[in-house]
Formats: sequence, C-alpha cells, structure tokens
Amino acid sequence: MAFDFDTPPDRRHSDSIKWQRYAHRDVLPMWVADMDFAAPPAVREALQARLDHGVFGYAHVSTALREAIVEGIARDHDWQIEPDWLVFLPGVVQGFNLACRLAGEPGDGVLTFPPIYPPMLLAPDNHQRRLVRSELVLKGGRWEYDWDGLDALLATQSARLLMLCNPHNPVGRVWTREELTRLAWHAEKHDWLICSDDIHCGLVIDSAQPYLPIAALDEAIAQRSITLMAPSKTWNIPALGCAFAVIPNAHLRKQYLASARGLIPDVNVLGLVACEAAYRDGGPWREALLAYLQSNARALLAGVNALPGLSMTQVEATYLAWLDCRGLGLTDPQRHFERHGLGLSDGRDFGLNGFLRLNFGCSRALLDEALQRLATAVRAV
Ligand SMILES: Cc1ncc(COP(=O)(O)O)c(C=O)c1O
Repeated sequence: MAFDFDTPPDRRHSDSIKWQRYAHRDVLPMWVADMDFAAPPAVREALQARLDHGVFGYAHVSTALREAIVEGIARDHDWQIEPDWLVFLPGVVQGFNLACRLAGEPGDGVLTFPPIYPPMLLAPDNHQRRLVRSELVLKGGRWEYDWDGLDALLATQSARLLMLCNPHNPVGRVWTREELTRLAWHAEKHDWLICSDDIHCGLVIDSAQPYLPIAALDEAIAQRSITLMAPSKTWNIPALGCAFAVIPNAHLRKQYLASARGLIPDVNVLGLVACEAAYRDGGPWREALLAYLQSNARALLAGVNALPGLSMTQVEATYLAWLDCRGLGLTDPQRHFERHGLGLSDGRDFGLNGFLRLNFGCSRALLDEALQRLATAVRAV
C-alpha cells in the first residue's frame, strides 16, 4: 500500500502549536517534535470505529492492547517482554518524572547527558533531586558519551538514577551495545536505578544502527530498569496521550504505581485505541515513513554540510537534526534563522548554546524550501 507523505494536511489554520506560533508570519515551523503527516489509516480507522460506538465511559486496558504491544516490541525491536510488565501513562514526561520521585531521597543526584530533551533537565528539580550533567561530546563527526569526563564526575558526585534517552533527542544517536554495556556497568557499580526514555525507538532511519533497549542487555539490568515507550512519535499521535513504562521487576513496578497514585490519570480511551491499532497494524505505514525520513535526512545532511559555518552529523534515528551553528559566530542563532523564515528549536533549551534543532518530519517540498532559507540565512551572517 502506498502512503502519501508529499501532500500532508494543511495545518496552518489548525490548533497545532507548531504552526500557530508563526500563524501570521512567513516562518516555516520546524521546531516542536510532531510531524506534519496525518496518522496512519489503520489508526484513524480504529479511532473512527470507537467514535461511532459513541460511549466514552471509563475504560480498562484490554488484554488485546497489552498483547499488541508485547508482539510489536518483539517484532520491531527483538525484545521479549511480558504483558504485566506494562504500566500505562498519559505521557513519557510523566514517566521520567515519576522515576525521579522514586530514586533516592530529596537532594540525591540524577545523572543525565546534555544536550537532551529539555524536560529531562528540569525533572530532577521538580522532585528536589540534583541534576548531575555529563555532557555528550562530538568526536570524529559523531556524538558520544564522554567516558573520561564521566569517571571524573563520578569521583566527586553521586547519583541514584541514570536517566537515558535512547535514541537520543536531539543528537539522533542510537546507542550501541558497547555504549549501553558501559553505562550498565556503572549502574551496577553505583547501584543506580535506570530510566530510559525510548520514545523514539520506532524511528531508526540508519539500518546499520539497530536499536537495543538497555534493559535487554541482561537480566540484572532489566531488574533495575524502567523503559519508557509510546506510539506517539513513531505514528504521530502525541496529542492522544498514551505511553507506557516497561518494568520487569515486580517490586519496582509496585513502587512506581504507588508513586503515581492520585496524581497521574488513566490514559484516555482514544489513546488506548490508537495505541493498539498502531502496534498491531501500523507496521506498513512505519516502514514507508522511515523510507521517507531517510530520504529527507540525506537531503538535509548534504544541504547543511555544504553551507560554510553550519554542520550536522548523520541522524541515526528520529526526525530531528542537531545543527552546529558555532562556526557562524552568532550570539542568538535561533533569532537569526527565525528572521530568515525558519522556526527552529534553540539549543540553549537542551543545555547547549550554538546549536539548533530542526524537525524534518515534513514534506520534501517544505524541507527543500527550508534548505533554501538556510542558505540565505547563512549568506546573510
Ligand atoms: C525524548 C522525548 N521524551 C518525551 C517526549 C514527550 O513525551 P510525551 O508527550 O509522551 O510526554 C518527547 C517529545 O518530543 C521526546 O522527544
């Protein structure tokens, strides 16, 4: 079946926060992480059938939904999980905030790796935990962990929680078995809880870099892990508010549920329906999407790296590119590109100045226009 990513619905006059920001300006919105594409037909059909039923009373998480997720994760990611390991949540952000509440006591450290999705930088403080930062480094054209820096950091700072992002937003890396094993070694040594935000795991566009959940490394690591996943990024349904934590350890699962009690609402019924359809029937659409994103990523990589003062690394996963603007010598790159018609995310929000994040989950025509505007903006520096 063919899917049309070239002519997405017009979102300019919709309720989209991405498009509303620039509603009355000639600025291409390429910031917040949703794609411009309509959700897969299989998801929309399931939602339509649920709407036609017409009753929206309290709903339970069905066995069929748990099975669709378990089968989907085994099929797509080669990870065998059990249905009762799943804890449903309205969002992944709530998922890592709960992990911060669980890990240790107020004042304890939460280790994470900037540049990173901004709510992960804020989560420790939300729960009176201390943010411990180990900055990623750009080595030979690839973003990596700074292993020496991490050793030095851990000599003076303690942590109770390792908060990962895999694949990593915004640098687009899919962490390798070696890298995850090295982190896992630290987790065992320091007795850390692990919370891995794997929301982008369905969006690997470099087939040479297969996704591996850290919890799949071995049984001991699984027992100390909370893996957060959702259909929201892969199938472009983030506003339907359905996510889940995979927690193999029964005691940890109980603690996690207890820390959510009275605070975190149940997932709404449309989110549950969409999630089941996505994992069960969304495969062909995802395959087509990945091919489209691969092509967008190739065009963007070539276009950006041809511009003096601007560069990006290969995107292994996600539809987000992390642009290095340091060579342009701008004090406020976000502002500069916005003035030239491009609405990008400011690297400072991710913890790194001099960078911008560009969302290429859009039609090729829009991306081509963005490339032209990038070139104009660079010439104007
Ligand atoms: C790494 C990461 N985690 C979480 C989220 C948001 O998740 P949710 O909307 O389920 O809270 C995003 C959205 O961009 C993200 O990139």
